[in-house]
Amino acid sequence: MKLNSLLSILADQEVHSGESLARELGVSRTAIWKQVRKAMSEGYAIETIRGQGYRLSGRVDLLDRQVILRQLEGNLASQIELEILGETDSTNAEVARRLARGQSRIPVILADCQTAGRGRRGRNWSSPKGQNLYLSLGLPIKGDFTSLDGLSLVLGVAAAEALESIGKASIKLKWPNDLFAEGRKCSGILVEIQGELQQGYVQVIAGIGINVHMQQADEVDQPWTSLDLAWPEITWIRNSLAAAIIEAILKSVSTFEKEGFEPFREHWQARDLFKGKTVAAREGQLKGVGSGVDSQGNYLLEVDGSQVAVRAGDISLRVKP
Ligand code: BTN
Repeated sequence: MKLNSLLSILADQEVHSGESLARELGVSRTAIWKQVRKAMSEGYAIETIRGQGYRLSGRVDLLDRQVILRQLEGNLASQIELEILGETDSTNAEVARRLARGQSRIPVILADCQTAGRGRRGRNWSSPKGQNLYLSLGLPIKGDFTSLDGLSLVLGVAAAEALESIGKASIKLKWPNDLFAEGRKCSGILVEIQGELQQGYVQVIAGIGINVHMQQADEVDQPWTSLDLAWPEITWIRNSLAAAIIEAILKSVSTFEKEGFEPFREHWQARDLFKGKTVAAREGQLKGVGSGVDSQGNYLLEVDGSQVAVRAGDISLRVKP
């Protein structure tokens, strides 16, 4: 019996007798008691009510493969190979390993925690257990490397729209694809390319991290927030978030392969965090007013009346203090 099976039953926060739990999970009452102890040692608040059974106080938000698959529209579930891991180094690394083995469906990995979560520009990505979403997809993109222009922005738009479809939240995008909630970063996307061009496809690994329930993090070196902190009135459920994001990404990538970045440009610009702000790029060498993105997804700065494109890739933009 897996601990998550027990926790999923207790998640309704009602009292469940040891006997009914044992029956439902097909194990002995002693096995239930052992799992309850284990759950408590992992920090779950489970009360033992004499003569009645067990009750979980406090909300748990467990990842569940079947729940996610059921929420996917149409035939999307049959296109992916979804795996949920308790712990891994990095879900991007996991997808890379699946791709190296060869897999016909799109590998999609979710983990409850990461021990070596990676961010852009060599940063770490804080990945505590059970609180956030760590999700990676192995996406075969039709075309060559130049066809990838704008893809990372498309993924940002897809993720923003997915979050907005769940709650009445309004997400801003910091170029190229950081998601901001109430002025602070709540999510980041890491796009990596695996191997060489193969039979007209580029193998892209898209990893997204979303701070969902996180309330504190000592090791994050930039202003951050979580969905719970930004919008506590919304009940954020990781399974629903994962399903919405997987669906939005698969649909957007399919449009992107046919039509490129153009159909997404307005959607990106509507959420531009830097729009109208004075911004510095190229390590302070270039200063201008944020003016959206061009057709390749480069950021545009208005400098002395003309527009200067900041290449997509590795240049970071900062609002000038
Ligand atoms: C950023 O620096 O903003 C990008 C962060 C990307 C983090 C996600 S979490 C899931 C996936 N696995 C990783 O190791 N990184 C990405």
